[in-house]
Amino acid sequence: MASPNLTKFAYQTLQQGKSLAGLAHKGISSKLMELISQDNSPDFPLQRELFNELRDSMSELAEIDWEEADEGLYPKTQLFEAPWLEWARKYPWVWLDMPSTWNRRKKRKTRDLPKDIDRDSYPDYYLQNFHHQTDGYLSEHSAELYDIQVEILFNGTADSMRRRIISPLKKGLEKFNHRNSRKLRVLDVATGTGRSLQQIRSALPEIELFGMDLSGSYLKQASKYLSARKGKMVELSKGNAEKLSFQSNTLQGVTCVFLLHELPPQARQNVINDCLRVLEPGGVFVLADSIQLSDSPKFKPVMDNFHRAFHEPFYRDYINDDIEARLKEAGFENISANSYFMTRVWTSSKPY
Ligand SMILES: C[S@@+](CC[C@H](N)C(=O)[O-])C[C@H]1O[C@@H](n2cnc3c(N)ncnc32)[C@H](O)[C@@H]1O
Repeated sequence: MASPNLTKFAYQTLQQGKSLAGLAHKGISSKLMELISQDNSPDFPLQRELFNELRDSMSELAEIDWEEADEGLYPKTQLFEAPWLEWARKYPWVWLDMPSTWNRRKKRKTRDLPKDIDRDSYPDYYLQNFHHQTDGYLSEHSAELYDIQVEILFNGTADSMRRRIISPLKKGLEKFNHRNSRKLRVLDVATGTGRSLQQIRSALPEIELFGMDLSGSYLKQASKYLSARKGKMVELSKGNAEKLSFQSNTLQGVTCVFLLHELPPQARQNVINDCLRVLEPGGVFVLADSIQLSDSPKFKPVMDNFHRAFHEPFYRDYINDDIEARLKEAGFENISANSYFMTRVWTSSKPY
């Protein structure tokens, strides 16, 4: 790789580019939505002070992301991990998909799902068009577009936010340093298209890695994404995170990224409880999800807008929820948390 300064500059430029592209896309698409769909949802006036806070918080995130790569927590190549050609190919689909998304949003159609799904295989809360997404999580079309849509939503910071689980995960696994690292088993719960799995795999290339999700289509996408990249094989399985198909006390690490805000309160608790069950005593649990009102009150307008603009039925409840209390209720200890831009990361461990 080029000199460190040059690489850092390239990374900063890339992040700024992604951020501008995300902002431009959102600006144009919301104007078009007003024009074509005549959706009169109130606009989100971004006050200058808030805009500055967001920009600073995003720069801090990029700085941490760079520093942790520089310290060797994960390879620097990760910072540039973006399937550009694939995204370029898929970007027109995002536009083509938009009119149906606007229509669902305008008509408040939140249960517009493929006819051929077996509804009995999923909990009722899952059978919705989260983010007004076409087919919810239940088609290959949705899985193909997910990554690029999330990149746009977070102005190109989604992977940097996901990567904040790596440092606490590695630290938590140090307890097992006396063991052969090939024997360490880590599960990524609700892995979606597998982006966190790939980040973990490149930071911890020797461990045994598992991913699970309730969507077969998203797992298929994850499998495609992971097998196109170098690394040890990752085992993927379909299931409900409330009842993991792993035996008790058999994993040393569990991660879970951007799931909790899409669950009703009891399911949230069930997932946390089951993550504790599958961990071996001493094992580490790293949870990442949206920031909340208690830790980031200055971003309340952003959280309110997210709830208003996208179909996120459990988000309002989530941003008021006490996750630390839930972790304690499940039986976790050594709980700590940090916020990075739009993401909060909780780390805890299972008592001996
Ligand atoms: C917002 S996405 C996050 C995906 C991924 N972790 C990421 O970082 O992009 C939420 C994911 O949770 C999955 N999901 C939702 N409810 C679930 C449940 N009860 N059990 C397992 N997966 C679930 C969805 O299928 C989807 O892939």
